[in-house]
Amino acid sequence: MAMLIAILAGLILVLCFCSALLRWNEVRYRKKGLPLGTMGWPVFGETTEFLKQGPNFMKNQRARYGSFFKSHILGCPTIVSMDPELNRYILMNEGKGLVPGYPQSMLDILGKCNIAAVHGSTHKYMRGALLSLISPTMIRDQLLPKIDEFMRTHITNWDEKIINIQEKTKEMAFLSSLKQIAGIESGSISQPFMTEFFKLVLGTLSLPIDLPGTNYRRGLQARKNIIGILSQLLEERRASKETHLDMLGCLMRKEENRYKLTDEEIMDLIITIMYSGYETVSTTSMMAVKYLHDHPKVLEELRREHLAIRERKKPDEPINCSDLKSMKFTRAVIFETSRLATIVNGVLRKTTQDMELNGHLIPKGWRIYVYTREINYDSFLYPDPLTFNPWRWLDKSLESQSYFLIFGGGTRQCPGKELGIAEISTFLHYFVTRYRWEEVGGEKLMNFPRVEAPNGLHIRVSTY
Ligand code: HEM
Ligand SMILES: *[C@@H]1O[C@H](CO)[C@@H](O)[C@H](O)[C@H]1NC(C)=O
Repeated sequence: MAMLIAILAGLILVLCFCSALLRWNEVRYRKKGLPLGTMGWPVFGETTEFLKQGPNFMKNQRARYGSFFKSHILGCPTIVSMDPELNRYILMNEGKGLVPGYPQSMLDILGKCNIAAVHGSTHKYMRGALLSLISPTMIRDQLLPKIDEFMRTHITNWDEKIINIQEKTKEMAFLSSLKQIAGIESGSISQPFMTEFFKLVLGTLSLPIDLPGTNYRRGLQARKNIIGILSQLLEERRASKETHLDMLGCLMRKEENRYKLTDEEIMDLIITIMYSGYETVSTTSMMAVKYLHDHPKVLEELRREHLAIRERKKPDEPINCSDLKSMKFTRAVIFETSRLATIVNGVLRKTTQDMELNGHLIPKGWRIYVYTREINYDSFLYPDPLTFNPWRWLDKSLESQSYFLIFGGGTRQCPGKELGIAEISTFLHYFVTRYRWEEVGGEKLMNFPRVEAPNGLHIRVSTY
């Protein structure tokens, strides 16, 4: 009996302590003018719920507090904005003190010159340097031939095999960018590079706790190793004096390039390119494979487009720019996949000063999660929004409507859009003209910050 009372008393004590803690944390952040919402636990806030429930967390909070609410996630007090007008406003007004606000671990691991870490004129300069590497001319003359060569070999020998399509598209996104960046072929140094890169990616999405065995520590180490590989590459190239027709070559030919970056900036830019195109391109490709499998009519139409291109060509003739331009339906499939799967749930900003937003006062240094996911299921913009219907995109105006935020908006709009589309299109070209496939399993997984996608989706492939 006494035991029971002791346990009960203990429990009550713990409960009181917890609710006091929660209460204290609410009071700590109480300030006139802040929107509604809850701050969760000290330090951890509502991170666990946010990561575990994903989009449902957002929906629940919105039902309670409206589409502009406060929370505490990923170590920072955060305003979540799900209001389309306001989201557009925030993206368009970086100059008014709404700069990127990605987690500390991401900034530490991607480097202090990476594009998300720089603002104002430095951002303009780094972005200009990047755009010069992936301009339409560069895509036409240098990148597309590399992408073509890569894709056709990457998907050989899938015949009569069970393929983990998630793994394959991840390798594809990474290796294809490595080839474009430095002409590095699969094999050689690409394997150890890829291992380091995957560790780097995990590190950027972890809490910044620098202890042995944490993903953060491993990520930092991976960054060091990658910098090591890249420095060596720079050195070798300087010694050999050969000209290389790839991104690194462009960055190193300072006499010809308007943008004269230091070695540190070059390496951070390369890491930025690999990182930004990795999860986006791989997940879109995987989800396209899934949706195409589930929608035979779409697959049939897509195949028709690609077989027509193939017919005009000799068997081994590569895809060129005019072929790419003619892939209207493929483009529509890629947009519809990005919309329905919501490859990017939203983007993060932070305030550089106290500011008024939507009639509320947001303190300096708070994060703003510009949550753009919901707009993808808006039945006014996309009638019958839960249906996979690429045809809706054949009307060009849908791509240019002002709430098209799949690639972000404003001064930070994705510079890699056309490059990403070129990669996915080329992959689909070889994939659908060579193979048929059926699904054989995979489990649903939520993944911050980008996607909610089946984990380890497997397909059984056979010749078309
Ligand atoms: C095809 C799939 C892709 C999607 C859906 C996508 C989506 C996005 C989004 C939503 C943003 C805005 C981030 C923000 O505002 O904070 C962004 C920015 C960015 N993307 Fe992409 N992206 C894709 C492919 C690529 C590729 C292939 C590259 C490679 C060059 C790339 C490079 C970047 C960079 C460097 C930024 C930052 C731009 C800046 O801050 O000025 N993206 N992307
Ligand atoms: C692309 O290839 C097709 C043949 O497949 C050819 O007719 C066309 O002229 C080429 N376009 C360019 C820009 O080279």
